[in-house]
Amino acid sequence: MNSKDYTALESQYGAHNYHPLPVVLSKGKGPFVWDVDGKRYFDFLSSYSAVNQGHCHPKIVQALIDQAQELCLTSRAFYNDCLGPYEKYVTSYFGYDKVLPMNSGAEAVETALKLSRRWGYVKKNIPEDQALIVCCEGNFHGRTISIVSMSTDVDSYGQFGPFTPGFIKIPYNNVKALEDVLEQHGPQVAAFITEPIQGEAGVFVPDDGYLKKCYDLCKKHNVLFVADEVQTGIARTGRLICCDHEGVHPDVLILGKALSGGVLPVSAVLSNDEIMLTIKPGEHGSTFGGFPLACKVAVAALQVVKDEQLAEKAERLGVICRDYLRNIPSRMIKLVRGKGLLNAIVIEPRNNKEAWDICLAMAANGLIAKPTHRHIIRLAPPLVITEVELMEALGIIRKSILEMEQ
Ligand SMILES: Cc1ncc(COP(=O)(O)O)c(C=O)c1O
Repeated sequence: MNSKDYTALESQYGAHNYHPLPVVLSKGKGPFVWDVDGKRYFDFLSSYSAVNQGHCHPKIVQALIDQAQELCLTSRAFYNDCLGPYEKYVTSYFGYDKVLPMNSGAEAVETALKLSRRWGYVKKNIPEDQALIVCCEGNFHGRTISIVSMSTDVDSYGQFGPFTPGFIKIPYNNVKALEDVLEQHGPQVAAFITEPIQGEAGVFVPDDGYLKKCYDLCKKHNVLFVADEVQTGIARTGRLICCDHEGVHPDVLILGKALSGGVLPVSAVLSNDEIMLTIKPGEHGSTFGGFPLACKVAVAALQVVKDEQLAEKAERLGVICRDYLRNIPSRMIKLVRGKGLLNAIVIEPRNNKEAWDICLAMAANGLIAKPTHRHIIRLAPPLVITEVELMEALGIIRKSILEMEQ
C-alpha cells in the first residue's frame, strides 16, 4: 500500500472530523518521524505537545513493555502495585497532596470541573445547583458537551447544543474582566479555569503578571484557580508547568498529553486534600484511569523530563527559535510569539498563499507542522531536539516561507 491508499482508507472508513496534512507516518524517533516512503521529517507539532520527550523514548517504551508483560489493567475495583507508587511520585513531583488519574485531557478537564463544583458546594457553601465557573473566551479545553459549553469557537460548539449551564465567559488576558465578574458573582463562583497560554487559539501568551493577578483575585474571593496545563505543562514552555513562570501554584492542576510522553492516553488532576477529598468513593472514576501500564509509563515519562533537563532546554532553545524566526526577511511573517518551545508564527497571506500552503511547503522540505486557525502556524518540536537539529529545522522553515514569496 502507498500513502494514497492509506489516506483513501481513512477517508472511506473514518469519520471526517479531522483535516490532516497529506503525510502518512509510520515511524518515529526523537524529534523525527518518517512516512511510509521512508522520507524523514522534523515533527514540529509533537502530537499537540504530547511527545515532549521525543518519539518512542527508549526508557518510556521499555517501561511500557516491562509492565505489559506483567499486568495491564485491573480497574479500580482492586488495588494494584503500580498506582500507589505512581501517585506518590506524581504528587511530590508537582507539589500536591493528591492526584485523580484519568486518561484523556478532556476527561481531566471534566474531572476538574466536577471537583470545582463539588468543592463549591461542600466547602464554600454555594447553594445546590447554583455554582458558577468562570472561563476565558478563545479557550480550548477539549471536546465533551460540558467543555464545548465553555467554548467561544463556533467550530467547537456549533450545533452541539443544548449546552451545560453554569459557565461565565470573560475575555482572556483581561484582569479587570475577572475582577468585575468576581465582584458581581463571587459568592456563587467555585472556580476560574484558564490555560496559562492559549495553545489551540494560536499560542496566545497573556501579559506578564496576568496569571498571578488572576490567582490573587481568586484567593480574595475564595475561588479555585484551575490551570489547564494539558498543552503547556511538563516542560513545554521552559518551566515544569507554565504557571511556574509567575510563581503560581494552581489550586487544581490539569495535566495530560506529555504525562505519558505520548505513549498512552494518561491525564491527571492534582490538588490538595481540602479539595480532592470532597469527592467520595463511587462518585467519579474511569475504568482505565490510573491503570498499571499508565502508572509505569507516566513515572518513566516524568523521570525523563528531569533527567534530560527538558524544561531548561525548552527555555534556552525557545529563545534561539524566536530570534531566528523574527529575523526571517519575509512579509508573510506578521508576528512570532511563544514561550519555551511552544511558539507560533502569525501569517500574513500573500500571493494567495496562507498558513496551510506554508505547511505543505515545509512538509515537502522535511518538516511537519499544522496551522491552528487559518493564519497561525504553531511550532512545537519534541524537547529532546538538539540545538544543531533545531538550526537545521529552522532553516527548513525559512526556506519554505521564502519560497512562498517567489
Ligand atoms: C489546553 C488543553 N486542554 C485540554 C485538551 C484536550 O485534551 P485531549 O485531546 O487529550 O482530550 C487539549 C488538547 O489539545 C488542550 O490543548
